[in-house]
Amino acid sequence: MIRSVVRGFGTSLPKRVLTNRELESMVDTSDEWIVQRTGIRQRYIAGEGETTASLGEAAAREALDRAGLTPADIDVIIVATSTPDNTFPATAVNIQNRLGMHHGFAFDVQAVCSGFVYGVTTADAYIRGGLARRVLVIGAETFSRILDWTDRTTCVLFGDGAGAIVLEAQEGEGTVADRGVLTAQLRSDGAHLDKLYVDGGPSTTGTVGHLRMEGREVFKHAVGMITDVIVAAFDATGLSIEDLDWLVPHQANRRIIDGSAKKLGIPLEKVVVTVDLHGNTSAASIPLALATAAADGRIKEGDLVLLEAMGGGFTWGAVLLRW
Ligand code: UT7
Repeated sequence: MIRSVVRGFGTSLPKRVLTNRELESMVDTSDEWIVQRTGIRQRYIAGEGETTASLGEAAAREALDRAGLTPADIDVIIVATSTPDNTFPATAVNIQNRLGMHHGFAFDVQAVCSGFVYGVTTADAYIRGGLARRVLVIGAETFSRILDWTDRTTCVLFGDGAGAIVLEAQEGEGTVADRGVLTAQLRSDGAHLDKLYVDGGPSTTGTVGHLRMEGREVFKHAVGMITDVIVAAFDATGLSIEDLDWLVPHQANRRIIDGSAKKLGIPLEKVVVTVDLHGNTSAASIPLALATAAADGRIKEGDLVLLEAMGGGFTWGAVLLRW
């Protein structure tokens, strides 16, 4: 049985760090409020010349280097983003060109904060379907460019960055002992589209727009939705929470992460948290956290790793994989 195995990983962050203290001089907020309500201490903000494509390219190059591969070895590039460089063409095609890759194909997926989970699921389907051998999956965002910097309820929460992995077709036994993606569970429900959205777009206002969120409403749904897909992922494989080595959640809010882990009975020592350093980087948050924990030696070959996210739409999903 063909499995999609993680062969390499990489990250890229903008040069500029924006601390909570600095935000105190921009809007009516405090370091104490932000840390207590979200766990965020700082975030990175893209400067001149730094874009979703440039950050995504840098993360992709690092992932390829770690894998000992070059762009010539890649068949498909999938970029999960809600902040593309341009309305079109896709940021994935932009990154393909930056990498000097002129074969294969590249496209974006747009599922907001669940984008990386959707991207990995799509790549896994291409690999298992025999349409590709190696897929570069990138989560890259510059949310700072769609924030309303006068709105304290949103501008303190988000940051910029990118993370990437290379998924490769490898032969498995068809058991849960195999390395690679074991199951993916995706959901969406457009009934919630007015709770977290951008108030502009090419076909409505003709402008880019700004992020708007009813934070409390999103928070109310988050833990339930996340835990439902995680339970579905374990049911699909016959594995249980006790088998899990690492939970790598979307990094939106420390309280949502802790609440989900507690509800599922996952000890906090098994949860990778980077929201304090990166803020919410939407589709980039999972690959940033995943690469951080793999680079520092926490995630090791053979570990059972669970990715989960929930975001605008709503969209949500979970991927269970063996590293
Ligand atoms: O990644 C996609 C998914 N997005 C999320 O997961 C975000 C989900 N939501 C959240 O993380 C939380 O709802 C927030 C962090 C956004 C807000 O935390 P909360 O505990 O739900 O606070 P709240 O919205 O209920 O606001 C509490 C108070 C309000 O004041 P009043 O009405 O009680 O007087 C807000 O106006 O905090 C006030 N407030 C702030 N105060 C200082 C809101 N933002 C700020 C701020 N600084 N930045």
